[in-house]
Formats: sequence, C-alpha cells, structure tokens
Amino acid sequence: MHIFLVSLLFFTAAEETRIVNGATASNEQYLYQASLRNLTNVHFCGASVLNTRWVLTSARCLSLYTNFTVVVGTHDLTTGGVTYQVETYTKHPSYDPANLSYDAGIVKTLTTIVYSSTVRSIVLAPTIPMAGTIGAVTGWGYTTYPSTTFSNQLQVLNTKLISQTECQKQFSNLSYVLPTYSNLRV
Ligand SMILES: *[C@@H]1O[C@H](CO)[C@@H](O)[C@H](O)[C@H]1NC(C)=O
Ligand SMILES: *[C@@H]1O[C@H](CO)[C@@H](O)[C@H](O)[C@H]1NC(C)=O
Ligand SMILES: *[C@@H]1O[C@H](CO)[C@@H](O)[C@H](O)[C@H]1NC(C)=O
Ligand SMILES: *[C@@H]1O[C@H](CO)[C@@H](O)[C@H](O)[C@H]1NC(C)=O
Repeated sequence: MHIFLVSLLFFTAAEETRIVNGATASNEQYLYQASLRNLTNVHFCGASVLNTRWVLTSARCLSLYTNFTVVVGTHDLTTGGVTYQVETYTKHPSYDPANLSYDAGIVKTLTTIVYSSTVRSIVLAPTIPMAGTIGAVTGWGYTTYPSTTFSNQLQVLNTKLISQTECQKQFSNLSYVLPTYSNLRV
C-alpha cells in the first residue's frame, strides 16, 4: 500500500493528539513518522520525514512552541528514538489560523537526520491520488473521543481519500468545529 502525502497533511499532525479507531502500527512500517517534542520531551505533534534535513507537519503545530525537538526512529513516545534540534521552521505563507487554510509547515533540523532500520523518508505520491484510494493516517494520542484513553504506541488508521471537490465542500463547513488555541491538548 502506498502512503500519500495529501492525507498526512490533514491528519498526521493533529495538534489535538488524537487518533480514533486505529490500531497499533507495526514497527516495520511508517518509518518516516516523527514526533515533535517540547523541551521537557513531551510529544505535541506528529511529523513526516521528507529528507535528511526536513520534516513536514501542520502550521498549527508550529504555533505552539518556539523551541522544540524532532524525534525519529521510535513508535513509542516513552522510549527510544533519536532527538534532533531544530535549526529553523516555517509555516505555509498562506496559512490562515482563522480557517486553517494551508495548514502545513516544515521544520529543518540542525544536523542531518540519519536513516536506519527505523528511520526513512516518506514516499511522495507523484500525482494526486484518486478518490477512494486508501491512505494511512498515523499518530499518537487519544484513541477515543471524548478523550479518555491515550496511546503512547503509534496508531494507524487506513481510510479512503476523498476528492478535492468533496474536500473543499467539507472544509468550507468546518468553521463551527475549528479548534481554538485554548482547547488544544498537547
Ligand atoms: C511540555 O508539555 C507539557 C504538557 O503540556 C508541559 O507540562 C510542560 O511544561 C511543557 N514543557 C515546556 C518546556 O514547555
Ligand atoms: C533551544 O533549546 C536548546 C536546548 O535547551 C538550546 O540549546 C537552544 O539554544 C535553544 N534554541 C533557541 C533558539 O532558543
Ligand atoms: C480562509 O480565510 C481567508 C482570509 O479570510 C480567505 O481568503 C480564504 O478564502 C479562506 N479559505 C477558506 C478555505 O475558507
Ligand atoms: C454544515 O454542517 C451543519 C452541521 O452538521 C449542517 O447542518 C449543514 O447542513 C452543513 N452545511 C453544508 C453546506 O454542508
């Protein structure tokens, strides 16, 4: 199964740290998964390794802390992995926090991310995948809504992609459920 970036832009880096109806991810898969941690090593957002210096996350996630680290190579928030300091980061120039348009951002590590048996870059889709294609949503955090149980093990949910048209239709109706910074759980 191919992993498509388009789905990740919207789901992987949910700053609400929630993935419901997923299953624990196998250690052999999703080696591009990174965890953004604050300076006391608490996970606050997911990210995807794009190459040896850059990871992709959401713009929302880059509004939470000014100094944070990127941890790769572990599916477990409580153990393992390699920590990289951040050189710089940038939100999409068209990001609009009022409606979450262009909710994407990239983070550059201070040193080169070393690939290994547990660290790889994500494979980018060469074209926009068709509606109905199965995409993988991955992340850590609450596994129920309302939030009662929290998973430190990476979760994966395979789900169908929707078309751009359908996405725009749904997106235009999101305003009444948009999270505010005051109710973010990190
Ligand atoms: C990291 O996040 C945790 C949980 O929100 C918080 O208790 C802690 O103070 C944060 N650390 C820093 C350095 O902001
Ligand atoms: C970020 O935190 C690290 C670790 O405490 C520190 O070495 C570094 O100077 C900080 N960077 C900035 C830009 O504050
Ligand atoms: C988001 O808000 C900006 C500024 O108000 C507006 O230009 C843009 O069309 C909006 N995008 C969506 C998807 O609603
Ligand atoms: C937007 O969502 C509300 C609440 O679910 C619903 O009542 C309304 O019909 C939706 N509007 C559109 C255009 O889908």
